[in-house]
Amino acid sequence: MKRIGVLTSGGDAPGMNAAIRAVCRTALHKGMECYGIMRGYQGLIENDIKKLPTTAVANILQRGGTVLKTARSKDFFTAAGRATAAKNLKKNGMEAIVVIGGDGSFKGAEKLYEEHNIKVIGVPGTIDNDIKGTDFTIGYDTALNTAVSAIDKIRDTAEAHDRIFIVEVMGRDAGYLALNSGISCGAQHIFIPEMQEDIQSFIKAVTDDRKRKKMTNLIIVAEGDEFGGAQKVNEYLLEHIPSLQSRVTILGHIQRGGSPSANDRILASRMGYFAVNAIVSGVSGHMIGIQGGKVLSLPFHQMNHDSKEISRDLTEMAMILSK
Ligand code: F6P
Repeated sequence: MKRIGVLTSGGDAPGMNAAIRAVCRTALHKGMECYGIMRGYQGLIENDIKKLPTTAVANILQRGGTVLKTARSKDFFTAAGRATAAKNLKKNGMEAIVVIGGDGSFKGAEKLYEEHNIKVIGVPGTIDNDIKGTDFTIGYDTALNTAVSAIDKIRDTAEAHDRIFIVEVMGRDAGYLALNSGISCGAQHIFIPEMQEDIQSFIKAVTDDRKRKKMTNLIIVAEGDEFGGAQKVNEYLLEHIPSLQSRVTILGHIQRGGSPSANDRILASRMGYFAVNAIVSGVSGHMIGIQGGKVLSLPFHQMNHDSKEISRDLTEMAMILSK
């Protein structure tokens, strides 16, 4: 193997740069050349590719975003788009690529592998932590800490005014960010897609809290929750308790930015390093994961792209501790 490529795809996540650096430097160490593919699969289709010497990845480890830029490529969803991508890989003499991204990016990688026999390895990078087969994804720890620090600040003003705050966090269809930021901030109620809310007991609990003069309430809502996000929860609350002083905060893309946490830097470095070693030892069509602290690789087809389960113990604990 002489030449490999690396790209970042889908939503950016803090730590992606650390993963790019790890892939590049491990490849160079193994005597290979490393090429950076710009703007994910879209750059591959448009042949927007550049050689990455070791200096190209200097001073990026601590930076958020991705120096390779990213995109959600519609063209890559088409067979013609993938054929052009495969042709460009061959034209540039790239024998394998490392795809750093989320579930959607892995589906694309799997297709490239199946349809064109391109060697691919996926490295999970998304703040949502929603990829089956890995306990953690790159970017999740940083996003969680960003959310927690923002919610702590919201608590200060909530308490000063005796208000209820309904805070919406990202996560797409997954509740990891919501559940764990809720636990970290002592939220009274957490709405996540993986759990059916008992809305009547929720209203009763808020009413009871007011009666016992527990005036500050933090409610964390996952953007993908079936109830329909923080605004909907607020409207519902006000319908039933019109006297309530409530405010809504949607944290939004702030959760995707910023310098990666030490945990994300380490995870990204380990996964990027492991990915190249896996390629060198002939592994392909796999995703890198971390399970119980151990980095491993597993075939894409084993992931099934099902949603990852959330531990019932954790949701139960969150409920008990919030009383
Ligand atoms: O997958 C990461 C993520 O930030 C999700 O949490 C969110 O739903 C989505 O991306 C937002 O995507 P975009 O930046 O394209 O609006």
